[in-house]
Amino acid sequence: MDEFIHALPKCEHHVHLEGTLSPSHRLLCSQRNNIPLPNNINSLAALESELYPSQYDYEEGQDGSNYLREFLANYYAAMEVLVTVEDFRGLAAEYIERARKMNVRYAEIFFDPQAHTSRGVAFKTVMEGILKARDDEKRQHEGSSDYVRTEYILCFLRDMTAESALETWDAAVNGGYLKAIIGIGLDSDENGHPPQKFDKVFVAAREAGLKITAHCDVDQPDCHANISYVATQLGGSRIREAPSDLILAPKFDSGADRIDHGLNCADSPELLNLIKQSNLGLTLCPMGYSKHLGPKSVFEKLEKIKEIGIPFCLNSDDPAYMCRYKEKVVVDVQEKTGWNMEDLAACEITAMRMSWCKELEFKQKF
Ligand code: ADE
Ligand code: ZN
Repeated sequence: MDEFIHALPKCEHHVHLEGTLSPSHRLLCSQRNNIPLPNNINSLAALESELYPSQYDYEEGQDGSNYLREFLANYYAAMEVLVTVEDFRGLAAEYIERARKMNVRYAEIFFDPQAHTSRGVAFKTVMEGILKARDDEKRQHEGSSDYVRTEYILCFLRDMTAESALETWDAAVNGGYLKAIIGIGLDSDENGHPPQKFDKVFVAAREAGLKITAHCDVDQPDCHANISYVATQLGGSRIREAPSDLILAPKFDSGADRIDHGLNCADSPELLNLIKQSNLGLTLCPMGYSKHLGPKSVFEKLEKIKEIGIPFCLNSDDPAYMCRYKEKVVVDVQEKTGWNMEDLAACEITAMRMSWCKELEFKQKF
């Protein structure tokens, strides 16, 4: 089974670039930029053991209610070492190299520009770095069987202001970067920051022809209301896409194009029905939630979503912190569910159908 999973062509649509910041790249950037790490750590071994313990590996039944906040605090602190174009290039290049080794052939990757511009790093620096990694990959591997195709999804931080999101949007427009991104998303702390707060920027993105998604994180207080709003309202009206066997076309004329997480729809027959009717796909990260919710509840929900026929794909979320990149996520989900090879292959085919990649030819070859 492990060999089958390794060889299976895979893709992912829910991985945060900054969540792939490895201890070694963090150390390298810290030394290169003269930015000390906490506790004066200056060796990889110390960094790995002190700052990347498996604190997100909650045992079943353990209280994980502060999980997202605790995680985000560490996530933002860690990325303070990322300053130069080369730091961002290296970050993206390292993910692409890992993806290649796992047979991940296509990835739509989130990035969080405000987490950098708020520290004084120019938007252009972030973009130049991550686009250079993608261009290098294209130049060196396109056309060969080990090519990793990537697209970027610009995420807005929901715990920052709506004005800050609009400033970031303007920076993308004025810098000529809209063509370099495939869509926009919403991440960070959901509590008290509903998707409605960002209506203006989502409508602008829709008008610019970009795809739209938003986190509806698991077990956040408003997760049900947020799933419903994202499915039906976010981004305003859209031009209905032509139905196709290969492209998952949302059936509604409004709402986002995908939902990130959204696992809690399994608690509500109305939400399950809404998502099924809308033909929206969920980018699930079951191993991530399994750590704070307990595996039993997560896998019961996952089975329900599968049984009802809602499209979903399996993703790593923040793999450097959650100790699992995509291949290990699939291995672990298989162990928990007992899914067979056909089930797993079907997941990757659905993932490709859920992708926003426009070229049918690429999708067919996948
Ligand atoms: N940013 C990075 N990872 C995230 C997650 N799991 N939820 C919300 N925002 C995030
Ligand atoms: Zn996420």
